[in-house]
Amino acid sequence: MSVDNVNDVTEQTWKDEVFPEWGTWLNEEIDRTEVPQNKFEMWWLVNMGIWLKSDQQTSVAIDLWCGTGKTTHDKADMSPRHQWSRLTGGRKIQPNLRAQPMVINPFAIHHLDAYLVTHFHHDHIDMNVAAAILQNVKEPIPFIGPKDVVDQWLDWGVPADRCRIVKPGDVIKVKDIEIDVTDSFDRSVLITDPDEKDLPDDKQVPDMDARAVNYVLKTDAGTVYDAADSHFSSYFAKHGKDFDVDVAIVAYGENPIGVQDKMTSVDVLRTAEDLNTKIVIPLHWDVWSNMLGDPSEVEALWEMRKERLDYKFHPFSWLPGGRFVYPDDQDKLEYYHDRGFKDRYTHPINLPYKSFL
Ligand SMILES: [Fe+2]
Ligand SMILES: [Fe+2]
Repeated sequence: MSVDNVNDVTEQTWKDEVFPEWGTWLNEEIDRTEVPQNKFEMWWLVNMGIWLKSDQQTSVAIDLWCGTGKTTHDKADMSPRHQWSRLTGGRKIQPNLRAQPMVINPFAIHHLDAYLVTHFHHDHIDMNVAAAILQNVKEPIPFIGPKDVVDQWLDWGVPADRCRIVKPGDVIKVKDIEIDVTDSFDRSVLITDPDEKDLPDDKQVPDMDARAVNYVLKTDAGTVYDAADSHFSSYFAKHGKDFDVDVAIVAYGENPIGVQDKMTSVDVLRTAEDLNTKIVIPLHWDVWSNMLGDPSEVEALWEMRKERLDYKFHPFSWLPGGRFVYPDDQDKLEYYHDRGFKDRYTHPINLPYKSFL
């Protein structure tokens, strides 16, 4: 209920009115979209969150996360076991503030066929999203992820019979969408402690397959390769042989000094070339205030290199909350939100100054 008197306004009424910033706008858009035959549609839900809908109206959400980053300076230093402590030898908390609005309301999700997570980092897996799906999606849809992701869900109270552990080589069918599970190359997750008691020795390289996976989503209209938080790997060239990729999504961002985490612009291009994809979409650059990237840098570098290296792909620069239709948008380089006003001049205008227009 909206408040219309200053005496009734509280911090809570302000939050209720303003948050989530996009309300249910995107939920409604996704729900009301009837994907035409021989197409698929995707929405970017901030960070690496993706919603994919096929032409049979099958929906899967991947790495949907509706959380935040730092919200106060008053936090203890990182523990020596924290991944950034291990990587950088520092202890000060990183100033990673969430730089994007909340574009989707997880509690307004009612139609979903599978919920997938690539790894257990808390900007990819979210207790609120898990709860919202359990509460509001009528069908008992599967929660799919590698072992350590499922361990996290179980710890949060997600029923075991809803969880499905996957590893590279597995193939899952979600109605008409085939999902091939494949290797992750996320070195950051290898130094992050999962939610379990038996932690490996610091000198040991943990089993990546239990920690993180990449997904290849095959629809009638085309195939999406989700590289999640994988760093650059020359083994992408093997995946380029294994799969017929149309659209690849990768984690791009500006690494702070001393940090090796996100792909750089040249990593994005090398990954696209290795995967033999038609389109590469850099994501993840949007969300953290201390790692903001600029996808036009990827485009500029692609322009420099495309003739010399005979690139067969191009990058697509997207915006959070945006929609991508394949194959309709396959030649686009940049996305812009709907500019509206499409019904202009369908009624008489009413101006005292038409002569100035
Ligand atoms: Fe991650
Ligand atoms: Fe991430």
